[in-house]
Amino acid sequence: DGLAVVVVAAGSGTRLGYGMPKALVPVAGRPLLAHALRTVREALPAAAVVVTVPEGDTELSSLARAVGARAVTGGATRAQSVARALAQLPENTEHVLVHDAARCLTPPVVFARVVAALHNEASAVVPVTPVTDTVRGVDEAGASTGTVDRAGLRSVQTPQGFDRALLVRVNAAAGLLPVECEADAASTPGPEGITDDASLVERHAPEHTVYFVEGHEESFKVTRPLDLLLARAVVAARSG
Ligand code: CTP
Ligand code: MG
Repeated sequence: DGLAVVVVAAGSGTRLGYGMPKALVPVAGRPLLAHALRTVREALPAAAVVVTVPEGDTELSSLARAVGARAVTGGATRAQSVARALAQLPENTEHVLVHDAARCLTPPVVFARVVAALHNEASAVVPVTPVTDTVRGVDEAGASTGTVDRAGLRSVQTPQGFDRALLVRVNAAAGLLPVECEADAASTPGPEGITDDASLVERHAPEHTVYFVEGHEESFKVTRPLDLLLARAVVAARSG
C-alpha cells in the first residue's frame, strides 16, 4: 500500500574490522544482511524493498534479489547511499522507511510502531531509547563542561519513517539529489554534522515535526566487534 523500505548495506565495516563488507559478515552462519532482510520481510511482507550494496558487489545483490528486493549501488557516504535508493523507489511509494542493515535484529514491533505513526499523519518518525550512561559535555581542549541531564536525551535508531515526498525534498535541499554521475558525486558536499535522515528534515524542512516512537534494545547497530558478539548471542538465544 505505497510503503517502501530502504535498507542501507553499502558500508565497508571499517570499525568492525572483519576484512569484508559488514553486511556479509556471518551471524549464525548467515550474512548479516540476510538477518536484516528477514526482519524486514517478517514485519512488512508487502513493502517494496531497496537495498544499497557496495560498488562491485554481487553477493549482497543476490541476497537482496532472493527475497524480491531491488539492489542498487550505494554511494561514498550513508547519506549518498540513501539518496541513490530514493531515486529507485517504485512510482506509487507514499511512505518510506530507511533502515540500517547493521541493525540486523530489529524486532518487527519497532517497524510496526513507525508505520503506525506514519498512518497517524506523522511525516517523520524516529525510534528512540533512553540514554543509560551518565553523559558529559567536553570543550575543544578536552576539558569537562559538566554533566548533561540524560533525562532530556534519547538515543536514535532506525527504521526512520517518512512521507516520501518530504524525504525526497530534504535530500534535494541538502544537495544529495538528483544523484549525479560518479565524478560529480565525489564533489557533492556531504551534509555536515548530519548522521541520520530525520536530521535532514529538521535542517531543511523545520516546519515538520519529528515524532518519536519507542525503539528497542535489540535494535542496536552492529558497529564494533563487541556488537557482533552480542548479535550472535541474541540470535542463539532466539533460536534456543
Ligand atoms: N552505509 C551505506 N553506504 C555508505 C556507508 C554506510 O549504505 N557509504 C550503511 C552501512 O552499510 C550500514 C549503515 O549505513 O548498514 C550504518 O553505517 P555504519 O554502521 O557506519 O556502517 P559502515 O559504514 O559499514 O561501518 P564503518 O563506519 O565502521 O566503516
Ligand atoms: Mg560508517
